[in-house]
Amino acid sequence: MCGIFGIVTDKEQQLGPVLIAAGQRLSYRGYDSVGCATLLDDGTTDLRKDVGKVNDVAERLRLAEMTGRRGIVQLRWATFGGPSPVNAQPHLDSDGDLVGAHNGNVVNNAELRQQFIAEGMTVRSINDGESCVHAVERYVDQGYDMVEAIRRAYHDLEGDYAFVIGRVGEDRLYALKKGSGLVVGLVEGATCVSSDLPSILPLTRRILRVQDGEIVILWADRVELRRVEDGAPIEREMEIATESMEAAEKGGYPHFMLKEIHEQPQVVAELVHLMEAAPHVSQMIERMATARHLYLVGCGTSYHACLLGSVYLARLAGRAASPVLAPQFIPQYGPAVGPEDVGIFVSQSGETKDVLNAIAVARQQGMHILSLVNVLGSTLMHESERYLPLACGYEISVPATKTFTNQIVAFLFLALRMGGHSTERMAQLPDLLQDTLVATEPQVAALEADLAHQDDLYCLGYGLTYPIALEGALKLKEVTYTHCEGMLSTEFKHGPLSAVHDGYPVIFVTGPEDVPLLVSGINETTCRGGRAIAIGEEDERLRTNVHDLIVLPQAGPLFNPVLATLPLQLLSYRLSLLRGYDPDFPRNLSKTLTVD
Ligand code: G6P
Repeated sequence: MCGIFGIVTDKEQQLGPVLIAAGQRLSYRGYDSVGCATLLDDGTTDLRKDVGKVNDVAERLRLAEMTGRRGIVQLRWATFGGPSPVNAQPHLDSDGDLVGAHNGNVVNNAELRQQFIAEGMTVRSINDGESCVHAVERYVDQGYDMVEAIRRAYHDLEGDYAFVIGRVGEDRLYALKKGSGLVVGLVEGATCVSSDLPSILPLTRRILRVQDGEIVILWADRVELRRVEDGAPIEREMEIATESMEAAEKGGYPHFMLKEIHEQPQVVAELVHLMEAAPHVSQMIERMATARHLYLVGCGTSYHACLLGSVYLARLAGRAASPVLAPQFIPQYGPAVGPEDVGIFVSQSGETKDVLNAIAVARQQGMHILSLVNVLGSTLMHESERYLPLACGYEISVPATKTFTNQIVAFLFLALRMGGHSTERMAQLPDLLQDTLVATEPQVAALEADLAHQDDLYCLGYGLTYPIALEGALKLKEVTYTHCEGMLSTEFKHGPLSAVHDGYPVIFVTGPEDVPLLVSGINETTCRGGRAIAIGEEDERLRTNVHDLIVLPQAGPLFNPVLATLPLQLLSYRLSLLRGYDPDFPRNLSKTLTVD
């Protein structure tokens, strides 16, 4: 997830240190490249950018020395175009009169770049931030003023983003918000704008929150808000920010895990946009379709996504795919695979050693290597013939939440496309996820006191919900330090049933099609005194057979596993707190395991 910050001051001065400090404040989001631009009174610009961490890039490019009256800093998390100096932001327009940077994703970037090139503009990178600048340039060149040009550019740029842009020879900056965060700060002798409150708080607590569909014009001593729709001015009172710095970094949430759980509707919306527009999808499917055999390989949470991916692919595309834990891939399939086979390697970090070891064997055997990866620029990305970016932004909490959801959403999308089905309904997922969060949080809260002191728990699912049961159990294990086992519901009677006694908790994750089967399992448990908790759509057959029913919105069997993931994340989070642990950083665990 990128971060942007822009500042307009009342006189030319050394802006470098201010921009570096703002960049450092944005860095908690995670990034791979850093860039600064200043606009000077003599009509020139100074643009410096590179791949690396803020302090390293600042030292290498001597960012502290940069002077100007206006300045922009951007931290880039690569999505369109790999991490490289040219893809780093800010970007210039063709003749260097405009300089700007964005945060978010412009999903029609590829088409826009072609148009800009055909119109004779100088397009230097393949990054979508540059498309924001050219989209404005297009209308400035036709004689429109900046506000009008930005209004028109807004209609050309599809996706969720916010950008900040300046023009040489002026005394102001402009910013536009569409789906990504944007907040303005009013400082003595300056105004600033940023994607993130934490980059503003050290300078001022006097802020204005910009809404979607608004343009903000910043002068050193004032700001003006305009509606993008018709250019009309908007009156808004300045506020005094009360958030602490730490709370601001966590977006007001007490933990990153909870923040990342609540980000899921947004990241799913961004991924779906991206997959609708990106050429990656058809390229991946082409390769998958020609495979003799398809393997889905990952560890931990990512492996659970592979399991669900294989069910989606079989059901929607009639395509068999073997899900396998990365280290087991080597003995189980290594000697048998060859150049006709394709592996989709799934890893949030892209650095998990177990996954990279499996890739080394797959490569030796000549197998095709595709991937789903969140961290662009990671080893996995470089090792892949083709990859699909998960576009979740940085996930800080050790237990994976939003990255799992985007992994399974990516598999669902690929399976639908591969099977020749429409993906139109995917656009409903973000709202359904939001509804699920709102509806299930109180239901989970009502249950937590009874579960807080249980040291043993089972989480069962069947078919599409089997991987979700495994993932729910893993989440609970990670953050509550209890013994929680995930299992296929029908296997429970083949052994673990012996553990059931009065009040023994068993969670059943059920899809709408599997209720009759699950009801049998539920009764095998309850008749032995077990406490059955179901997660599923409202269903009389469930309600009359379980102790507790966590009700999901009616969304059908394909979306149900995605929605069912959320209450299990919330339950894990809340039980972790009740047991006195820090869910963001569970003991003994690491976010990225680069060891065998
Ligand atoms: C570690 C993390 C897990 C994660 C697994 C795979 O064990 O603690 O949360 O699921 O690695 O990580 P990856 O980055 O490859 O998805």
